[in-house]
Amino acid sequence: PRLLVLISGNGSNLQALISATTSSPPTLPARIIHVISNKKAAFGLTRAANANIPTTYHNLVPYKKQHAGDIAAARRAYDAELARLILEQKPDMVVCAGWMHIFSDAALQPLVEAGVGIINLHPALPGQFDGAGAIERAYEAFQKGEIGGTGIMVHWVIGEVDRGEPIVVREVEMVEGEGLAELEERIHKVEHVEIVNGTRMALERLVREREAAGRT
Ligand code: GRF
Repeated sequence: PRLLVLISGNGSNLQALISATTSSPPTLPARIIHVISNKKAAFGLTRAANANIPTTYHNLVPYKKQHAGDIAAARRAYDAELARLILEQKPDMVVCAGWMHIFSDAALQPLVEAGVGIINLHPALPGQFDGAGAIERAYEAFQKGEIGGTGIMVHWVIGEVDRGEPIVVREVEMVEGEGLAELEERIHKVEHVEIVNGTRMALERLVREREAAGRT
């Protein structure tokens, strides 16, 4: 199967997917065909290039200029082009791995209509800390005694941010007196394992759904 990975930063989860798809034998039987970043400086672009994976930097700025004053229109135009960029690569599935851009329907609709699955990795438990800064928010809640632990999940992407059906959920224990950096490090280690498992499980689900559709 053909994976297209979306990134915005370091790309450590992309790296986990690269390793899993290029090991012999591959722990993840799939091919990363393209990487798209919304940030020019994303180190993940370097990781992809080092793995001979084609990359695209999709820049929001020209859209903001073109639709000056109407950020919603700019994002819709950006997202429509993003969907086109994705579909022209003919992926089976899109993996959002450290992708920090909320899709509008302009991006999701064309992908859904094309039957392309979209999954996202989020460093929190379902419904706990949706959106950005999830780890920091969990850390603060733990300091206040509001939560006893946190976790990560890989989920299907729908219109609502970080709200799609979970594919894999892993709890991460929290430790009194541990610093934020240590918690982040432990969470990222769990992510690097679960991004591979979640992608594998999502692909298996897609294949089952296509077979079922083929049978009807
Ligand atoms: C990860 O916690 C990911 O879940 C979040 O961004 C962080 C950085 O990911 N969305 P990466 O190192 O860029 O893969």
